Amino acid sequence: MEKLIIDGGIPLRGELRISGAKNAALPLIAATLLAPGEHVLKNVPDLRDTRTFLKLMENLGISWQYDGHILKVDATHLNFSEASYELVKTMRASVLVLGPLLARLGKAKVSLPGGCAIGERPIDFHIKGFEQMGVNIKLEQGYVDAEVYESMQGTHIYFDIPSVTGTENIIMAATLAQGTTTIKNAAKEPEVGNLIDMLQGMGAKIEGKNSDTLIVHGVEKLQPANCTIIPERIETGTYLIAAGATGGEVTITDCQPAHLPALLEKLRFAGFVVEQNADSIYLNAGKISENGGAIRSTDIKTMPYPGYPTDLQAQFMALMTLADGVSVVNETIFENRFMHVAELRRMGARIQIDGHSAVVKGKGISGLIGAPVMSTDLRASSSLVIAGLAASGRTTISRIYHLERGYEKLVDKLSNLGARVWKEQE
Ligand code: EPZ
Repeated sequence: MEKLIIDGGIPLRGELRISGAKNAALPLIAATLLAPGEHVLKNVPDLRDTRTFLKLMENLGISWQYDGHILKVDATHLNFSEASYELVKTMRASVLVLGPLLARLGKAKVSLPGGCAIGERPIDFHIKGFEQMGVNIKLEQGYVDAEVYESMQGTHIYFDIPSVTGTENIIMAATLAQGTTTIKNAAKEPEVGNLIDMLQGMGAKIEGKNSDTLIVHGVEKLQPANCTIIPERIETGTYLIAAGATGGEVTITDCQPAHLPALLEKLRFAGFVVEQNADSIYLNAGKISENGGAIRSTDIKTMPYPGYPTDLQAQFMALMTLADGVSVVNETIFENRFMHVAELRRMGARIQIDGHSAVVKGKGISGLIGAPVMSTDLRASSSLVIAGLAASGRTTISRIYHLERGYEKLVDKLSNLGARVWKEQE
């Protein structure tokens, strides 16, 4: 197992190109199951999760080629409809094959994802939606065993909470269902929009993109896709916050500033110079210290898109440990997403947890000191990387396999921005 070593205190400087979005790549790869033939997906990030998903696809009889971020998937020989516990336990997003398998084969057997570090994360909305579409579902021995006796029927579905993968699973199932499906209180995340663009390119009939009401008119069959994965907004946000925390100056290119409304607002409020254009963002933290100022304490409350993303909560908390004053971080999406707090405290951070809120007493830009810390989940570990880059002295982060699930070439990208960071065997 590997660990990450960081000698902190160096401002990040330079230009960085952003990768494709993990949470778009996974549902779009799943959607290739909907149509036989060769699909072409571009800008697919090379991540541990992408590889795990392709392993799952292989088990279903799918062949693929991946070269230079271009993924070719041939879904002609889909001949198996089971996603094993072994695979699903390593990546919950595996449940995204349920919808396409039911639509294409009329049956699917997928392991229930089980517990997760950040929360209970049930899939009851997915299951309820499929049952409303006429799917017979049995939950046995930890598996969702689903079968359609006749054909899936379009229907009216309402989500209590705008679930991202729930919305994606139902949209994919509805594309080949009999009649029309309406999804109310649907998720509006840009990744859902990317999936809708792909499906429309395959011949699907979907209205209401980017709104909380989606209408899917079922069609007979779909064509293979040829589409591009959107830029990774969470990676973009992570590097912007890292630049802010180290007092640096960076330009992030090939990104989508419009997908980060809440974060850019918060970074400006905190005192950073943030300039954006169609596909790049410039952040300069230098001005803060030049004016003898400090990072202004800033409250955040995580919300479904376009609210502040929960996947950037931990990173922003790390930044607020360096602010001047008290910030409140309110996590409304997941019930257990403060695993990074104890680790940040090891680096000298002052954070009080009170239910779904964390009160962060900032210690100013030189407030953190390097220490050995441990990753617990993907985004918590990226907050520890940010803290390590800003801290004086050396930080060692163990269990970095969490990071590799969602950040492509992290060490190379940080080193190109001047950071002193490297990997070592544990
Ligand atoms: C997606 O997870 C992302 N994963 C998560 O990113 C992200 O944190 C999350 O959306 C919220 O933005 C992928 O897209 C692969 P939800 P998802 O269903 O779809 C509850 C990362 O770091 N809920 O929108 O699983 C649920 O418990 C990951 O990249 C139910 O109760 O999240 C949560 O409280 C982590 N029943 C809330 O809804 C259900 O059937 C939102 O979850 C489904 C969800």
